Amino acid sequence: MNNIFEKLRESHEKQRLLMSALVTTSGDTAARREFYSDLKQELEQHAIAEERYFYKPLIEKDKTVEMSRHGIAEHHAIDKIIAQLNDTDFNSPGWLTIMHSLQHKVSHHLEEEEQRFFQMAGKVFTEQQKSQLAKEYTQEMAS
Ligand SMILES: [Fe+2]
Repeated sequence: MNNIFEKLRESHEKQRLLMSALVTTSGDTAARREFYSDLKQELEQHAIAEERYFYKPLIEKDKTVEMSRHGIAEHHAIDKIIAQLNDTDFNSPGWLTIMHSLQHKVSHHLEEEEQRFFQMAGKVFTEQQKSQLAKEYTQEMAS
């Protein structure tokens, strides 16, 4: 049976792959456009589903309220960098600089979630909740 942590990790891996591909692209190329469009969609859809099916139940518990607020605040910070990239020409030399800062921010965020938040959440969720949340998260990601 899948649990919510495995499902979140799958998306995290996809984000990491797309980001490492993107930092090797240059100029206004099909590769840069395609990888970026995939990354943007993955980041946006994942953040919303993760807030609904991971952070929302955790924000209700005293033990995990602070980490949830922190995680959600980071999603906002990530959104801001995406907005900056959207406003930057694919051809602009600044594009890669912003992409590097997105990669840095997202990598740090994923690491913190996987290494600290998942452990804390693991103690708060019941086994049934872990698989139920996985199901709901997967449904939303597929929609
Ligand atoms: Fe996240």
